[in-house]
Formats: sequence, C-alpha cells, structure tokens
Amino acid sequence: MKDGRFLTLGIESSCDETAAAVVADGRDVLSSIISSQIEIHKAYGGVVPEIASRHHVTNINGVIEEALDKAGVSLEEIDLIGVTNGPGLVGALVIGIATAKALALAKNKPMVGVNHMYGHVSSNFLTYKNLKPPFVTLIVSGGHTDLALMEDYTSCKILGSTRDDAVGEAYDKVARVIGLGYPGGPKVDKLAEQGCDSLAFKRVTLEKDSYDFSFSGLKTAVLNYANSQRQKSLKINEADVARSFQEAVIDVLTDKALKAVEDLKLDKLVVAGGVGANRGLRRRLAAECEKKSIKLYLPDLAYCTDNAAMIASAAYFKYKAKGPDNLTLDALPNMAY
Ligand code: KG4
Ligand code: ZN
Repeated sequence: MKDGRFLTLGIESSCDETAAAVVADGRDVLSSIISSQIEIHKAYGGVVPEIASRHHVTNINGVIEEALDKAGVSLEEIDLIGVTNGPGLVGALVIGIATAKALALAKNKPMVGVNHMYGHVSSNFLTYKNLKPPFVTLIVSGGHTDLALMEDYTSCKILGSTRDDAVGEAYDKVARVIGLGYPGGPKVDKLAEQGCDSLAFKRVTLEKDSYDFSFSGLKTAVLNYANSQRQKSLKINEADVARSFQEAVIDVLTDKALKAVEDLKLDKLVVAGGVGANRGLRRRLAAECEKKSIKLYLPDLAYCTDNAAMIASAAYFKYKAKGPDNLTLDALPNMAY
C-alpha cells in the first residue's frame, strides 16, 4: 500500500518478452518495463523456446528492480504479486512463476497466477478507467483469435475461435513469404498502407452464424500467388499482397465481432492482443462501430503486445474475486480461458 493505493507487481515471461510492472488499484500504471528478445530471435525467423528461457533467467531480476525503481516503491509496499502461468512456452513461463513464488515467500506477500489472455483483455482496464464487463471482446494475438463474452472480470464464454492459424501467426507467415522478416505483423501493417486490395483474396467466413475463424486458406492463397508469380518470373507487388491480405483479415474480423455484439444485444466491443495494434483494423473497427453506435475500446499501443502492466491488472481483479493462489502454482502451457 502506498498513499492508500493497492499496489500489484505484475510479471510476464510467457514468450519472448521479460516484463515487470507496478499497477495501482488495478488500473493505473506506475511503471511498465519490457526487455524484448526480438533482436535475438530475428536471426532464427521466430522464437526459439530454449533461448527465450535462458534470457528470461538472465533478465528477470533486473527488470523487476527497474519496475519497482521507476514506480518509486519498495517490494515491502507491494500488496500482490501477479504472474502469467499460461498459456505460453513452458520453459519461459516457469522462470516468471519461480521468481514470483520466491518473492511471495521471502516477503510474505499474496500471489496469483494469471491467464495471459485475460491479461490482454485487461490491457483495456488500464486505458479506460470506467470500463467494466460484460462486453464482447475480440482477442487477436500471435497464438489466439477468439471472440468472447467477458461476463465479469474473471470469467468469459468463448463464442468462436480460429480453427487453424491465429491471425498474428498468419501475419508473421505472410511477412516471411514476401520477405519482410520477423516479427511480421507490424511490417505487413506498414507496407499495406502503400498498397491496394488488387488481389481480392477470398474472405473465409465459414458457416452462416458461426463466430469461428479460419486463416490458413488465406495464408495458402498468398503463398500460391507468390509462388506462381515467381515461377513465371513475374514481379510481386509486396505492398498489394500486404494490403490484400490485410483487407481480407479485417473484413472477417470486423463482420464477426460486430455481429456478436449485436446478437448478444450488448453495446461494447473490446479489442485485445498484439494484432490489436494494427492500424487498418483499428481504423475499420472505429468506422463500423460508429455506424452501429457500438462503443469501441482499443488498448493503448503500449499495452497491445506482451507487457506486465496488463498482467498486474488481471491479477488485481482475480485476487479481489477469488483470493490468492498457493505456492503449488504451476505453468500451464495450454491453459484454456
Ligand atoms: O499478443 P502478442 O504480443 O503475443 C501473443 O500473446 O501472441 O501478439 C503478437 C502478434 C505477432 O504475431 C505480431 O506479428 C502481431 O501480434 N502484431 C501485429 C501488429 N503488431 C503486432 N499484427 C498486425 N499488425 C500489427 N501492427
Ligand atoms: Zn500475448
């Protein structure tokens, strides 16, 4: 506690970012430190789990110290430690969990394990101080593409999910096909601004009324287009590929998300996850939600991709609803919602 405020230390190490943050009352970020390993994994075209774990071990204590320093608080003043315990890379998760347990035990503090996906949704609570469930959330990240009804802070009902590739994964693969490198999402996003939807890839909507998604056909269509151009020694217009792919993704995400909000007779749409940083998606959702008088919530760009402030927020709400976890907390690499 400091100045009457409940302080949560969040710890995140589920993939290739080692992050720590201090958040007051579940909503106000006092510090958010992220040590990214992107430069290290770039050479391999994607995250190498064993290398990620080793870097988490090296970085985690320094990142936590920096988060406390920047927030101007001591470990004694922290009221709760929240740590991602799934889903994610098992060897990466255990580093954050072991650190959280050690701190909780040494300082006699309560600790909770956080579902990384609830963390992404909670990134919105940091930006919108009055946002409360229920709402429909569109979760778009490197590993997930889900439409869900967030019933309260700690429970959600999945309405639909991807049946194959996650949208971020499809972005990263398309980026590789057109030679943009890793991580591809932001690069495709940038290049798409200069292109046109000239290739008009098929929009895969699956069965009428289904909230599920499928992006592997679109990914293959991009691959086939690039291969056939190369075989014929014809030029590939990378900007048009990026734009055409992106428009096909945005059309489907926007239609299904808005339909879910209307079907459930709600009035809020909350976006979460790394692909939520996509400029084209943000613009389109804003335009379509305005037409339908749906309130749109987009996380700050700083909290779209992996960070620990969102984990601290989710931890605060989970602790208030369900109390602490005990020290048997384990990594759950395939943790469901
Ligand atoms: O949520 P996140 O940081 O990590 C996971 O939990 O998966 O999401 C990472 C994903 C990557 O696939 C990355 O390429 C994608 O988000 N991404 C983007 C953008 N920024 C990050 N995709 C499209 N446009 C962006 N601006
Ligand atoms: Zn994430």
